[in-house]
Formats: sequence, structure tokens, C-alpha cells
Amino acid sequence: MSTRPDDADIESAVEQALAGLMPPGLVTGCRIVRADDEQYLLPAEGASIATREQRARAATGAGRRVAHELLRRLKYADLAVLRGQLGNPIWPAGTVGSIAHDDELAVAVAALSDTMRSVGVDIEPALPLPHELRGMVATPQDRLGDLDFGIGSRILFAIKEAVYKASFPLDGRVLGFEDIAVDLTSGEAVTSSGNRLTVRFTISPRILALAYTP
Ligand SMILES: CC(C)(COP(=O)(O)OP(=O)(O)OC[C@H]1O[C@@H](n2cnc3c(N)ncnc32)[C@H](O)[C@@H]1OP(=O)(O)O)[C@@H](O)C(=O)NCCC(=O)NCCS
Repeated sequence: MSTRPDDADIESAVEQALAGLMPPGLVTGCRIVRADDEQYLLPAEGASIATREQRARAATGAGRRVAHELLRRLKYADLAVLRGQLGNPIWPAGTVGSIAHDDELAVAVAALSDTMRSVGVDIEPALPLPHELRGMVATPQDRLGDLDFGIGSRILFAIKEAVYKASFPLDGRVLGFEDIAVDLTSGEAVTSSGNRLTVRFTISPRILALAYTP
């Protein structure tokens, strides 16, 4: 399928925004999710997510296509990123990475594991979080600095998802929002399982959140 100019623009804008958050050594990519993107799942990857419906498989295919490209850039020959039992991506030995999608876009980040212990990414629309979700995501220990709470709560949501994705490979613990304390004034997050992560975000052209442990 050909890439429309608008598609290339948004892919490139998101990729650049993501690259702007990255510490040295991380590589990033973005792709519009197309209906036939399931085709990019390698056979072992497809088998590892066998029970999921078509739209989710297309989003996962788009994310894996970006992931494969990042692994190529890191000079890796083993490109398969299988799916673990809790949905976690299993990156080839020697690499770390993370994947996220919204309704339209898939993003991925990756690095060699001698540059970074763990990384997580999330993408969200740049819109305030619905009122009913705000109380669930924010806890008294979170510090948003001078951010408006509407958009701030969506940023907090994205950061906590990124933190969970970066924390899970370190200890295998499933975390809720209440298990993660985010301080945007210091750019750090701490989990109830004791992991301390650096967090970064941007709002435009989407909310993009990154969490990592150097
Ligand atoms: C990980 C999770 C937060 C992702 O949220 P989502 O909004 O469904 O989806 P996103 O697009 O942001 O991310 C999906 C990607 O996350 C990655 N992912 C899923 N589970 C993961 C885990 N345990 N650790 C690391 N990455 C994970 C996968 O790569 C997945 O994409 P894929 O299925 O195509 O491989 C969610 O699936 C989950 O497991 N939630 C349970 C715990 C929770 O919700 N806690 C509250 C937030 S801290």
C-alpha cells in the first residue's frame, strides 16, 4: 500500500517528537496503522498473539513493523518480538524496547541493553482525560508542577503506562495507577516495587510519554 503525503507527515512529526525525548542510544519509529498491517507479523509473532481480533492484530503488526526496523538499525539479525503471557513484548536478547498504539498510530522505541536497562513508551490523544478517569489515575503523591489538571491528567495517564511498560521487564510486577508516583518537576517516577525511572513527555503532535532506567 502506498503512503499518502499526510500519512508521511504525521509519521515523521511523531517520530521527530519522540526522538526529541530520547537519551542517546535509543532509536524511535512511528507508523500509521493500516488495515492490512497484520502482514508484518513474523510467523512466530503471529502465533504468539493468535487469539486477538483483526483490528488489534493490524495495530500489533504496525508496531512490530516499526520494531523490526529499529532492530535492523541496531544491527540485529533476530527481528522477532514475541508476545509474553501478560501482553509484554519479548525483545531479542541484548536489546530493550517498547511499543504503543492509539487508534491511528503505532510507535516503538528500542536500544541495546548495554545502553539502557529498560524503556517504556505510550501515545495518547492530546486531549484532557475524561473526568471519571482523572481520580483513578492521579494519586496524592503525584506532582504535576504548573500543568492544567485536565491535560495534565492525560499526561499522567500516558506516563504511568510508559512507566509500567518499563518497570514490568525489571520485576514482572503488574502495577496499577496507584502503584506509580510521578513527579514532573524532577522528571522522575517511583513504583511501589521500588523501581526509579526517568520520565519525559511532549504534547504535540500527540501526547508521547517515555520512561526509562539508564
Ligand atoms: C500495558 C498496558 C498498560 C497497555 O495499555 P494499552 O492502552 O492497552 O495499549 P498501548 O497501545 O498503550 O500499549 C500496547 C503495547 O504495550 C505493550 N505491553 C503490553 N503489556 C506489557 C507489559 N506487561 N510490559 C511491557 N509492555 C507491555 C505491548 O507491546 C502492547 O502492544 P502489542 O500488543 O501490539 O505488542 C495494558 O495492556 C496492561 O497490561 N494493563 C494492565 C495494568 C494496568 O492497566 N495498570 C494501570 C496502568 S499503570
